[in-house]
Amino acid sequence: MKIRIPATSANLGPGFDSCGIALSQYLNIEVVKNAEEWKIIHSLGADIPSDKTNLLIQTALKIAPDLSPKVLKMTSDIPLARGLGSSSSVIVGGIELANRLGNLNLSQKDKVQIATEMEGHPDNVAPAICGDFVVASYVDGEVYSVKHHFPMCDVIAYIPEAHLLTSESRSVLPASIPYKEAVQASSIANVMIAAILNGNLPLAGLMMEKDRWHESYRKKLVPHLEQIRDLSHKVGAYGAFLSGAGPTVLVISPEEKTTQMVRELEKLPHSAAINVLSIDQEGI
Ligand code: HSE
Repeated sequence: MKIRIPATSANLGPGFDSCGIALSQYLNIEVVKNAEEWKIIHSLGADIPSDKTNLLIQTALKIAPDLSPKVLKMTSDIPLARGLGSSSSVIVGGIELANRLGNLNLSQKDKVQIATEMEGHPDNVAPAICGDFVVASYVDGEVYSVKHHFPMCDVIAYIPEAHLLTSESRSVLPASIPYKEAVQASSIANVMIAAILNGNLPLAGLMMEKDRWHESYRKKLVPHLEQIRDLSHKVGAYGAFLSGAGPTVLVISPEEKTTQMVRELEKLPHSAAINVLSIDQEGI
């Protein structure tokens, strides 16, 4: 049995803790055989546990405590702690593992609900499960989500070498913002979503860069954001925004501008990987 979970990018700028897209990088899980003890074969580094303490198995056992132990194989090209949903991909993988091994028959909605309760916000787990573009709200303990097709484009991920933990990136956010500012921040997100639904990426890109919820507070942790934004304007891409909690920055680009955009990004002095991705439309 094999499970494939896509990377994700949360927020898309103003859709903080609500909007996300699934991307064409993946966590792959394979059930190899029955065993006496849980074991994960992987080469993801010494920091990632290979036994029952791994988040994948912990998640699966939380949902189906009676699962019998297996040997699993895990590979991933989703970089850790870079704002591309690596921990969400593991949580979603654990839920799907429990679902299939335990024959739980969970619906997509059940999976989104369980994953959001574990993660605390739906903007990574929902697109990882459903694929494509998902707008979700976690309110009064319930997740309400809508999947929609994201318009055709390239997604260029500028992935710095340095890690940034979500907890650190959330710690710089204010406890509250003034009412007037919140109304404005919400209107920006609304127009961005409507523009995406209309296939209007130039307008969506413009709105992505006007976020008022989080990017201005996080900017000090990701000084390359402004530089990349300037380059994106110069090249004529649709827009650039912080991927999730960062430090990765995504540039949404028309296909014909991608080569030039990548060339410009390569000139930046930071140590970073630059990946040209597409939207994953399927999820798990
Ligand atoms: N919406 C979350 C954030 C995504 O920006 O903190 C990262 O997990």
